Amino acid sequence: MIHIVGIGPGNPELLTAAGALLIQKADVLVGSKRQLGDIPPDNPAERKLLPSQLSELEAFLQERIGQEIVVLASGDPLMYGIGKWALERFPPEQLQIVPGISSIQYLCSRCGIAMNDLYITSSHGKQPDFGFLLAHPKVAMVTDSKIGPAEIAEEILQRKLRKTLIIGENLSYPEERLHRLKPEEVAARYDMNVVVILDEG
Ligand SMILES: C[S@@+](CC[C@H](N)C(=O)[O-])C[C@H]1O[C@@H](n2cnc3c(N)ncnc32)[C@H](O)[C@@H]1O
Repeated sequence: MIHIVGIGPGNPELLTAAGALLIQKADVLVGSKRQLGDIPPDNPAERKLLPSQLSELEAFLQERIGQEIVVLASGDPLMYGIGKWALERFPPEQLQIVPGISSIQYLCSRCGIAMNDLYITSSHGKQPDFGFLLAHPKVAMVTDSKIGPAEIAEEILQRKLRKTLIIGENLSYPEERLHRLKPEEVAARYDMNVVVILDEG
């Protein structure tokens, strides 16, 4: 059985009890170096570094399907994570998706932003349709190294819109930083981040 376990934004205290139990009972744990490094050293499971190619991960999971395999997923697996990929490849009897706290949920809690009517999107591997998404009063975006806070701010400035950006860096880690900025105040680069874009109230 494959369990895709959402581990939350990073701090192990934010892992759900259900996720922790599956990790404890796993035969195999698959995750990034950082994720596997947070697993207690006395956990006896075999550890497999997440392959860079998803086709390689698929072959590995097929080969080990009879075992209890836990794939560690950042945040919530179905919030722009590996959950969608897994749902498209494995039948329900072989797959369990265990929700986690997404980085977007966490940032909204830290900054007191209700998620009602929040439009959620991602810039991972695609050029977002800024005309469409900036028409929304409240947007949250998981970002990547190509399109992040500076590029979003530039799109807002080009359109002369009155927006505020809430940027959450390294959320839930000791190096966490939160910023509430006007587009013209946004810096060129931030560490791993999520951005909420709000109409100026
Ligand atoms: C592939 S997406 C996965 C999102 C994840 N499924 C979630 O629910 O948070 C990776 C992106 O999530 C965001 N992210 C995940 N963890 C984060 C954290 N601790 N601090 C800031 N951003 C984070 C960043 O935008 C990162 O580039």
